[in-house]
Amino acid sequence: MPSIAPHVDEMPRSGIRAIMDLAWQLTDPVIGLHVGEPSFPTAPHILEAVADAVLKGNTRYVPNAGLPALREAIGAKVRTRNGIDAADEQVIVTAGGMQGLHLALAAVVSAGDEVLVPDPGWPNFAMVVQLLQATPVRYELRAERGFQPDPEELARLVSPRTRAILVNSPANPLGAVTPEPLVRRLVGFAAEHDLWLVSDECYESFTFGVPHVSPAAYDTDGRVLSCFSFSKTYAMTGVRVGYLITPPRLAPVCAKLQEPLIACVNAGAQFGALAALTGPQDQVDEARETYQGRRDAAMALLDEAGVRYLRPEGAFYLWLDVADRCGDDVTDWAVRLLRDRGVAVAPGTTFGPGGEGWVRVCTATATDDLLEGLRRLVAYH
Ligand SMILES: Cc1ncc(COP(=O)(O)O)c(C=O)c1O
Repeated sequence: MPSIAPHVDEMPRSGIRAIMDLAWQLTDPVIGLHVGEPSFPTAPHILEAVADAVLKGNTRYVPNAGLPALREAIGAKVRTRNGIDAADEQVIVTAGGMQGLHLALAAVVSAGDEVLVPDPGWPNFAMVVQLLQATPVRYELRAERGFQPDPEELARLVSPRTRAILVNSPANPLGAVTPEPLVRRLVGFAAEHDLWLVSDECYESFTFGVPHVSPAAYDTDGRVLSCFSFSKTYAMTGVRVGYLITPPRLAPVCAKLQEPLIACVNAGAQFGALAALTGPQDQVDEARETYQGRRDAAMALLDEAGVRYLRPEGAFYLWLDVADRCGDDVTDWAVRLLRDRGVAVAPGTTFGPGGEGWVRVCTATATDDLLEGLRRLVAYH
């Protein structure tokens, strides 16, 4: 039999999937705090726009880089809200933020290259680097430094094969938001070492009292690629629309690359994204306030129980220190918590070795479930 490509075969499975599979098998009800799914329904005007577009016959191929009207609306959004000085031609519509990351890295990384990725960080970062036959080199985000990247440590990890650094703010799983001076230093670091900087900003709409800062706003020589998504902001994870803002010289390359990757994003879905961006934004504000309220309620419960956590300034996750409960195997502990107490959380090690002793809890879950899940968690040893 022909063999499976080794780099694909060796790619580790996400530890969240293992928890999900077990949660599905259990017959008793489970409180699910493991997946990053917004708790809001998709707004009716977005659904109507998708249905209307499809019923009107928008079921054909559209340009690789996206519907012109959507690219224009996105261009206007990133110029006004993100401070990114990009022309509409630099907007590439993608099948969710995930495909935007793949596209960005596929455009700049070759087999054998190295890419700096955060540890802890979303597992898909390392997976997509491996898929391109490149090597993910993890940079540590440590509690002592507020879980922020340290440019001096990054410099020590750079080798002649390093091609790119991937940054993510607001961060999954940490909820950390990188402040403006550090964002500027990271862009400076990329320039100093002549690297591409790929910025994942899928949680940009959810920050609590601090600004979201886009690295591309400080890009002076065209080395930053910014990945955004409609999934979390507009609670439309299954519609699958995101976008990449590329430096000018990469725009035609990325548009060309969409051809062998996906040809184009689903046309009806793009009309939904256009409605999301140009329609009322009150549901986004409501979601932000709700997530902040849940975060605050969860923090109060954890403070009372004496459990250490990172105070999240963005996204919808809580990063909890369970080292004193889980021994040296947090994945095993998460499985036991699920079996014994019916609470599903994401084990920290799925986000990298730096996650040992930690778990991620999704605060987008309904408040009662979130608090009941946390009560069971803090009482479990
Ligand atoms: C950090 C981060 N980036 C990107 C994504 C991709 O989201 P989507 O492909 O649904 O837009 C996710 C989803 O969980 C995420 O957590």
